[in-house]
Amino acid sequence: MNGKTDWLIETKNLTKIYGDGVEIYALNDVNIHVGRGELLSIMGPSGSGKSTLLNMLGALDIPTTGQVFVDGQDVAEIKNKDIFRAKTVGFVFQMHNLLPTMTARENVEIPMMGHAGAKERHERAKYLLELVGLGDRLKHLPSQLSGGQRQRVAVARALANNPPLVLADEPTGNLDSAAGRALIELLHELNHKQGTTFVIVTHDPAVARQTNRVLVMADGKIVREDMIGSPIEEDLKMWQHSGLGRRIVNDEIDDLENLNLSSKQVKTLKEVLQNNQH
Ligand SMILES: Nc1ncnc2c1ncn2[C@@H]1O[C@H](COP(=O)(O)OP(=O)(O)OP(=O)(O)O)[C@@H](O)[C@H]1O
Ligand SMILES: [Mg+2]
Repeated sequence: MNGKTDWLIETKNLTKIYGDGVEIYALNDVNIHVGRGELLSIMGPSGSGKSTLLNMLGALDIPTTGQVFVDGQDVAEIKNKDIFRAKTVGFVFQMHNLLPTMTARENVEIPMMGHAGAKERHERAKYLLELVGLGDRLKHLPSQLSGGQRQRVAVARALANNPPLVLADEPTGNLDSAAGRALIELLHELNHKQGTTFVIVTHDPAVARQTNRVLVMADGKIVREDMIGSPIEEDLKMWQHSGLGRRIVNDEIDDLENLNLSSKQVKTLKEVLQNNQH
């Protein structure tokens, strides 16, 4: 297949078998489609094949059978995988893999080596660190940054060559829940601003809820797919099913001062809740 499709990623009957004696189907006939500009999460128990799938999508590993298409290209047919990875895919891992003796800025410059001149690398690293909110930490070493900040450097590094796709394996795994939420918010912002497609492996349902769609894996297969509304829609659903939501719709609110909402805000909420009733 040649040329661009609507899908940024497509897998066809993707299977990965490990082991010589006892065969382990790390991936078992996986068919997924990921649209351009999606923010997708993958969940599932330990050992269900999430990292294996991510590695296949990023051409870090070779399938036993089946195919992976990224940006319309059959990954197996790509001769220079290093160039493909540098240009098309950014990676963020749970262990951020920053080089400890290099500053934040130098770490972000690494993927640009060989693709851009020194001045351009330097400028872009600064731009990206500003983009992730670390404009005042350019010269800090990883050891001088918090876990959340280090993960932000890893995100900036993943974006270095402006890839259409970023793959993140448990990017919030080492962060507390507030830092984790902030990181996913950052990915959302980058997704909106730059149209970058994100595929995020996570164990955390709160992280998955922040994405547009969740694929759930078990035993090497995709066993469920959930569409998720925008966070606002999710909040609205909660409101609709709450006693308060019902009272707003039924004009039974008489304690506005306790709600911290103006009567105008209540009116707007009522309209939105009514429009969202299914
Ligand atoms: N290099 C390997 N050699 C042999 N078996 C492997 C290898 N890598 C993974 N596996 C096996 O493949 C299966 C899927 O592993 P994978 O790392 O994809 O799981 P995961 O869903 O990412 O799990 P976790 O949530 O624990 O990270 C597991 O049963 C694992 O033991
Ligand atoms: Mg894993």
